Amino acid sequence: MSNPDLVIVGSGLFGLTIADRAAREHGARVTIIESRDHIGGNAYSEVDDRTGIEVHKYGAHLFHTSNERVWKYVNDFTSFTDYVHKVYTTHQGVVYPMPINLGTINQFFSAAYSPSEARELIAEQAGEFAGKDPENLNDKGISLIGRPLYEAFIKHYTGKQWQTDPKDLPASIISRLPVRYTYDNRYFNDTYEGLPTKGYTAWLENMADHPNIEVKLSTDYFDESQELNKKNLRGNVPVVYTGPVDRYFDYELGDLKWRTIDLETEHLDVGDFQGTSVMNYADESVPFTRIIEPRHFHPERDYATDRTLIQREFSRFAERDDEPYYPINSSADRETLLQYREKAAAEPSTLFGGRLGTYQYLDMHMAIGAALSMADNKLPDLLRS
Ligand code: FAD
Ligand code: NA
Repeated sequence: MSNPDLVIVGSGLFGLTIADRAAREHGARVTIIESRDHIGGNAYSEVDDRTGIEVHKYGAHLFHTSNERVWKYVNDFTSFTDYVHKVYTTHQGVVYPMPINLGTINQFFSAAYSPSEARELIAEQAGEFAGKDPENLNDKGISLIGRPLYEAFIKHYTGKQWQTDPKDLPASIISRLPVRYTYDNRYFNDTYEGLPTKGYTAWLENMADHPNIEVKLSTDYFDESQELNKKNLRGNVPVVYTGPVDRYFDYELGDLKWRTIDLETEHLDVGDFQGTSVMNYADESVPFTRIIEPRHFHPERDYATDRTLIQREFSRFAERDDEPYYPINSSADRETLLQYREKAAAEPSTLFGGRLGTYQYLDMHMAIGAALSMADNKLPDLLRS
């Protein structure tokens, strides 16, 4: 077999966007290698056998963007439904709308505050730490929205996400806690939002559907028993690598730390379990952070009405063998990352991208946007190298 013009490690949205540009714009012959047995990275979804419901295998994925170029680009591969994301939270047996808005505030205080009255109240409650620099996440939360709302809706939820008391977390984890002084509880503020009409996997497969793009599944870049491995390719074939940057260098400068989630799936003999797609659980007494009910992502579909499935989501620190989901980004991590970045920049004919390759949380539209920039600015040179 002759070598392809470009090897891409990872078939997530970053890798697929590079593959598309290389093949469709530059006419390059591209091989994507993917260690999992399916395409698409974490955006992958599959149809549940027992219910026929589309399930986001690695956790709920909502597409949203205000980037015109990205919106136009993704619409080349899929259309989107008019789904608008909303989130609710259960606190001490009562359901409230999120993010915190005038509806949440009035329900919580059993009141009928106007926008300016609510603003005044929250400003007064947030004044508890006035003039002091918050030393930890707990004080920061109180200084942003006041103790009552913080303790009800943020403190324990955040504590569960981090498996750490917010008093022991750095204030820098949150820079702001949005409070809306209207009844608008749309979760995202972006211009465009929706879910891929025929599902995520159809979208991701369309991106790779080109005679110049070959996808090799269940193929690991570091496995020397397969031909397209790091040792063979390094310096010989242009590579775009979207796996973990620390893994690439054999963790020689240490591991970058991540959080992961565990999803516990349950099938139920009811048509509708919770009436909405995402219900957070704000209290410490409930061990999971939220319950996803995927049928509600597609109200336009003809799903069976006598059964559903739910996913309880638990958050924890990732070990090396877990799926890395959210970068912890401590100051130690950031220092390690800078060192890995230097090594990555010096790596012959390999570009690093995507959320794992750059150790960054990237929403889908950000991963696609970053890949389009790489395709504009670096891909032509890489393909000539
Ligand atoms: P990935 O999708 O992670 O793809 C990387 C691929 O590389 C993987 O398939 C992996 O198997 C493969 N790989 C790694 N190492 C190797 C190797 N050695 N050899 C071969 N292949 C390898 N974004 C949104 O916009 N909205 C959301 O609601 C949203 N929710 C999310 C929820 C969760 C739980 C998570 C984790 C992410 C969420 N995202 C969401 C972000 C979205 O998943 C990312 O934007 C997207 O995954 C980025 O794509 P990527 O290609 O950089 O990485
Ligand atoms: Na992805």
